[in-house]
Amino acid sequence: MSNGSLWNRLEQWTRLSRLSFPVPAHAKNIGYCLGGITLMGFSLLFLTGLILTQFFNPQTELASKSIHYIVEQVTGGRFLRSFHYWAAQAVILSMCAHILRVFITGAYKFPRVLTWYFGMALFFTATMLSYFSGTVIKWDQEGYEALEHFEFIVGLLGPIGTFMGKGLTDSVSMNVRMYGFHVTLAPLLLIGLIAAHFYLVHVFNISPLPRGPHSRLDEVPEAELTGTFTEHLFSIVRFSLIFYGLVAILASIVPAPLEAAASSEPTGAKPPWIYLWQYGVENFVGMPGILYSSLVLALLFLLVPLLDRGPSRDPKDRKGILSLGAAVFIVLLSLTLYGWLSPKQVHHGHSQEHDPAHPQDHSMDGMPGMKDMGETPTDEPMHDHAAAAPAGSTQEQHPAHESDERTH
Ligand code: HEM
Repeated sequence: MSNGSLWNRLEQWTRLSRLSFPVPAHAKNIGYCLGGITLMGFSLLFLTGLILTQFFNPQTELASKSIHYIVEQVTGGRFLRSFHYWAAQAVILSMCAHILRVFITGAYKFPRVLTWYFGMALFFTATMLSYFSGTVIKWDQEGYEALEHFEFIVGLLGPIGTFMGKGLTDSVSMNVRMYGFHVTLAPLLLIGLIAAHFYLVHVFNISPLPRGPHSRLDEVPEAELTGTFTEHLFSIVRFSLIFYGLVAILASIVPAPLEAAASSEPTGAKPPWIYLWQYGVENFVGMPGILYSSLVLALLFLLVPLLDRGPSRDPKDRKGILSLGAAVFIVLLSLTLYGWLSPKQVHHGHSQEHDPAHPQDHSMDGMPGMKDMGETPTDEPMHDHAAAAPAGSTQEQHPAHESDERTH
């Protein structure tokens, strides 16, 4: 069968040629491919996450051990875990670069205000739910203390907090529920929000360049849409191959960090880099600072299209909003540096109930008949070294036990 007829068949069955709809020529530029590059990264995270899920056990007694198992005994496990870790950093970076491009080029202006707001929901879901739950479930010291913070914050959130927090049930440990958030709730939310975001991007098409003859128009005039979506897509694939290719090289050289399992002593463990600015805020106002600073950030996102409503996308006509953006960026960067460089501090809420110095018992003890079920899920750090190892490994085979002994 010739290539021509193969293409004809494919076309008959899929109408792929309809993807070649017109878009502005500048859609091929890297700045306008950053959203697509972010999506490619999410797809790689879904794929690698799906494989990791086959080997990871989120029960608190086993979470850290099963990560050691993946890294030390599963074929390709070390690379897979490292790639998942580094790709998550890369996706956050490309999403931030995407926001920066949209902000600088005034692409959030009418009629794309809702696109901005769905983007904002994506940002918070990706950082505060997906990435956050991923840092907890490995159940090292950082993850354990992050969960203490999570429980404090959801305690401030009323009914939503009750649904997300440990008050909902004693039958499953919080780490297993965090894992549930990581592999079901967060991806479902992301997929729904991405679908809405993409629908809006499609109907309003890519915004005009911030300078030039169309900069004040809502859309590039149809007659001047000289690019095609397939060209845009090929650009995204080309940039993604380079970007995530570099991530793969990084993952094969630098393994994802692997700390010892959690101990119940609070150490003031520092969070991953994306939350360091909030760690800095916490140094001043304690744990509620996480909620306050997140709300302030959300408010700033909400305000952007409301404050900057003029028709011009040209940066020289938008000095006010760009200065505000620069000021926010400098504050975030300074707090991040401060959070990074300041000595470790154990943060407290204002109630004894959530004080990490008094970790709560999250076991199933409260459930009649559950106590005798062998492995009791607990959000307390593991102490029971006799707990079953992941399938296919034995206590002797497991180097994880050595580091666990040191921790306890
Ligand atoms: C999961 C994260 C995200 C993905 C996968 C994503 C994807 C995309 C894609 C593919 C585009 C069209 C091409 C482009 O401009 O790159 C786009 C446009 C847009 N995005 Fe996002 N985005 C994400 C997050 C965000 C965030 C956090 C914001 C801002 C709060 C945002 C605001 C916008 C706006 C306003 C547009 C229209 C830009 C224009 O027409 O020039 N997006 N997004």
